[in-house]
Amino acid sequence: MTTDHTSASADGETLTITDNRTGSSYELPITDGTIRATELRQIKVDESDFGLMTYDPAFMNTASCRSEVTFLDGEAGILRYRGYPIEQLAESSTFVEVAYLLMYGERPTEAQLAAWSGEIAASTAVDAAIGRIIDAFPRDAHPMAVLQSSVAALGTLFPESKNVSDPTVREQQVTRIIGMIPTIGAMAHRHNIGAPVVAPRADLDYAGNFLSMMFQEGDAPYKPDPRVARAVDVLLILHADHEQNCSTSTVRAVGSSQADPYASLAAGIGGLYGPLHGGANEAVLAMLDRIQTTDAIPSFIEGVKGGEERLMGFGHRVYKNYDPRATIIKKACDDVFEVTGVNPKLEIAVELERIALEDEYFVKRRLYPNVDFYSGLIYEALGIPKEMFTVMFAIGRAPGWLAQWNEMLNDREQKIARPRQVYVGTAERSYT
Ligand code: CMC
Repeated sequence: MTTDHTSASADGETLTITDNRTGSSYELPITDGTIRATELRQIKVDESDFGLMTYDPAFMNTASCRSEVTFLDGEAGILRYRGYPIEQLAESSTFVEVAYLLMYGERPTEAQLAAWSGEIAASTAVDAAIGRIIDAFPRDAHPMAVLQSSVAALGTLFPESKNVSDPTVREQQVTRIIGMIPTIGAMAHRHNIGAPVVAPRADLDYAGNFLSMMFQEGDAPYKPDPRVARAVDVLLILHADHEQNCSTSTVRAVGSSQADPYASLAAGIGGLYGPLHGGANEAVLAMLDRIQTTDAIPSFIEGVKGGEERLMGFGHRVYKNYDPRATIIKKACDDVFEVTGVNPKLEIAVELERIALEDEYFVKRRLYPNVDFYSGLIYEALGIPKEMFTVMFAIGRAPGWLAQWNEMLNDREQKIARPRQVYVGTAERSYT
């Protein structure tokens, strides 16, 4: 028996599927290069059948949302925020402006930028309760764990943030989080080194204030080198969003239960912490420290090819080309090293990249340097310890998480995130 099940798409593109179990044909609408997974549920062997599902571990080929925030073409190595190429934003914009752009979709006017910067600057101080929580952690607590806990704890100070359906309440949390996250990051660092907390300063820009909270010593006010502050600002811009990566999908998933943004972002920070995601920048430095000399690179590469470990800072789920952010960071290294002197590990990194890009193992798998390969070299040259590298990533990513969280809450198609599973466990049995 052959049955036809037809439904048309707005632009008339369709996909015909024939179920060879039944001989039935189904015509499914194609919209923006996708079919709706729920359309497959009509494909059944009989009325009692649940219907066909897709099986996609690690979401290799599943779009979970429609988004206007970030465009990424991994084959061509293209990244744009709200349509603006990342190269142009890194060249001409500031992190605070980019945060506004991600959030609202358009660049701010001068007045809007002044108001937005003012709100962020007014939110940089954190309640003393957060300082007490940080003090309770062991001296060597990893700053990402401290950041995650502290961001979750912020929710206790702003209970109104639970009202996620109110756009005004949401906007208030956005500027609060963008303002407070560098303060908490710097507090985590000062806790590690046993130094007193440095209060935020309104006379410095976003990156300069962060550097001051990290590095202020003695009574004379810290004066950030403008080239260093600019390099940090550019690094934050480069990390500001990257569409549906592990941490952002986590923020969206947790936020879809209507949890407050502090709980949602704390979950995202947990996702970022891992070495396959944001934690790779710290892992790259640990790897370069271990390799020590260029002579040791060939045997290290052999170990990677033999499956003993991964070449950290290489490879990407989406980029099958040079990560455009890595290109910009490699260039930024020159500016920073002009101020700080060259990081001796640069030579190892450059040689590692050269050898890997010529090696068939990496060429065949299309593994290129990603954003984390060179960023740690800059951070280290600036005196930022490697445990703080992923915190730098988190500070940069906060506006992206928030823009995506806000977009998710405004999207009428979104519901609580709840994947399906294929149960492969034991069939029913009796407990005796
Ligand atoms: N070193 C050695 N082999 C690798 C690497 C690597 N860095 N990355 C991927 N491969 C191999 C992998 O073993 C597999 O080989 P085979 O086909 O023989 O089994 C093949 O390439 C495909 O890898 P995969 O693990 O299926 O790819 P994925 O899309 O699941 O993983 C990744 C992406 C980023 C987790 C992975 O490339 C990786 O572990 N890279 C190192 C960690 C890293 O630098 N992460 C930062 C990512 S960029 C910043 C961010 O967004 O957080």
